[in-house]
Amino acid sequence: MWISRLRSIVRWRVSYLRDHWWTDFRLGIESSGIQRRVAHGEASNLGEHYQFYEPTVPRLFNAMVATLPAGALSSHTFIDIGAGRGRGLVLAVEAGFREVIGVELDRSLSEVARHNISRYGSRRTVDAVIRVWEGDALDFSFPRGPVVLFLYNPFDGQAMTHFFQNFTESRVGIGPPSYVLYQNPVAIEQCLAFKKVHLLHEVDGNAVLVVE
Ligand SMILES: C[S@@+](CC[C@H](N)C(=O)[O-])C[C@H]1O[C@@H](n2cnc3c(N)ncnc32)[C@H](O)[C@@H]1O
Repeated sequence: MWISRLRSIVRWRVSYLRDHWWTDFRLGIESSGIQRRVAHGEASNLGEHYQFYEPTVPRLFNAMVATLPAGALSSHTFIDIGAGRGRGLVLAVEAGFREVIGVELDRSLSEVARHNISRYGSRRTVDAVIRVWEGDALDFSFPRGPVVLFLYNPFDGQAMTHFFQNFTESRVGIGPPSYVLYQNPVAIEQCLAFKKVHLLHEVDGNAVLVVE
């Protein structure tokens, strides 16, 4: 009994070290840890819709990116909605995206994201334009071109409906489809309620959506 308990603790510790400590060390950034509440910034209009900060896991992120059509990395702008400390932005650059935007509500997190990007850039040659837009994702103006959105559970279903309303409206008249990589897709029903949004792949319980 205690041996199997010990085994599961060791397994958990090893996967934590690999997914978080090693990722930060390898990329030269500081993005691990959890932050439960908005520390700074305009959170008042979100209240209970706000979800806390927790960084993505590279193997899940990369598995979702691998399902995108060839060419999307160079033709599409990658946007992390709820970019936190910027881990998803750096992973997107590592994956090969050329234009990368982070949208983050919490000022303390977006400052860390900018710092992480500059630390990452000081250690490698980065062939990508990366920027962080600080504010509520519900107020963000999407670029007039195809995008790949990364959503790692930034907000609940009600806010997601509002967000997808804005997003799908912004896609009208844009030729190539856009994609959404949705990690921990707790509000997937709300996304799929829009008629131009379809499920393309399911990757370890995460969703890849196409938006026409
Ligand atoms: C689970 S974390 C994901 C972090 C990051 N995408 C990653 O994978 O490393 C969710 C993030 O969404 C942010 N967030 C929540 N509501 C938001 C909103 N309305 N606009 C922008 N960011 C928001 C939180 O501050 C938090 O950093």
